[in-house]
Amino acid sequence: MIDIRSDVMTLPTEGMLHAMTAAPLGDEQEREDPTVLALEDDLTELLGQEAAVFVPSATMANQIAMLCQVERGQEIVGERHSHMFRYEAGGPAFLAGAIVTGLTGTNGVFTGDQVREIAQIRDSEHRPRTALALVENTHNVSGGRTWPLAALDDLYDTCDELGLAVHIDGARLFNAAVALDVPPRRITGRAQTVAICFSKGLGCPAGAALVGRSDVLAPARRIRQMLGGSLRQAGVLAGAARYALRHNIARLADDHSNARTLATLLAEGGLPVDPAEVDTNFVFLELASLGIAREEAQARLRSHGVLWSNAHHPTVLRAVTHLGHSRADLHTAAARTIQALTSD
Ligand SMILES: Cc1ncc(COP(=O)(O)O)c(C=O)c1O
Repeated sequence: MIDIRSDVMTLPTEGMLHAMTAAPLGDEQEREDPTVLALEDDLTELLGQEAAVFVPSATMANQIAMLCQVERGQEIVGERHSHMFRYEAGGPAFLAGAIVTGLTGTNGVFTGDQVREIAQIRDSEHRPRTALALVENTHNVSGGRTWPLAALDDLYDTCDELGLAVHIDGARLFNAAVALDVPPRRITGRAQTVAICFSKGLGCPAGAALVGRSDVLAPARRIRQMLGGSLRQAGVLAGAARYALRHNIARLADDHSNARTLATLLAEGGLPVDPAEVDTNFVFLELASLGIAREEAQARLRSHGVLWSNAHHPTVLRAVTHLGHSRADLHTAAARTIQALTSD
């Protein structure tokens, strides 16, 4: 079976497992875990920021970022399909009492003007104050699409002018940096906060971080404690994360090239896939024109030995490439997919 459902399925490699067992450990809650402290330094340097907090998951990093910057009744603006809005169990409402305003984006990208149009930046007796703009980069629901740098700069300029904070949900930030061929800090350096995830394309079993301005992150460790996210010998995971930062960023280019190969082979095989839409490691397959219901397609694919996942849109299947796939795997996956969906 070839599993191309998601890059969250990655398993630690031997080198990573070694780094985990060799990592010096201590009590992270007492700031005595040397591996976590070293990871925090790595991250602030890499992302052009001042402070970092290690957390178990990217969801927690996003939620803590929000709790550091958004008061009850205040507003977060972001693209309407953002992970934070649609897949974090209503955290913004439940935890922060926030209003979320979903903007209609193109490939997950919205403009400074859209924010300007909606943002309430002065206190009002009627309108909720806008506190945070959310950028998801790469953007999951649109298919791992990257924010073009000009669009990002436009958003930063607008938010600076309005006095609005920017949070980057960078669960796949390094995919964006590799795809755009820029250092990660070029994307994150102007944000107030950035969430990154180690357990997707970077290949760690768990772990994420919230990185940002030190004044903004002042309450972050206390909030992490409240949410139950303060670990003890977290260096076991931070060791994996440090290994991933050294070994698994540049190689994301292979995942991107594998995704493009998959898309091209599928398109050549007559399936409705557009290789031009592949920015990073996601491939979308639109079933509508094939007249096959998604459940039926999934059953056929499974019986041919390839696993796709369901995308957000009801007629779309999603494949995500990662370090567990060889180029040959993608060729096999393409052949099996074509056979499953084109033969009766
Ligand atoms: C864009 C984005 N943000 C955040 C997350 C949350 O990551 P985690 O499942 O590690 O909490 C995901 C997970 O898929 C994601 O795609």
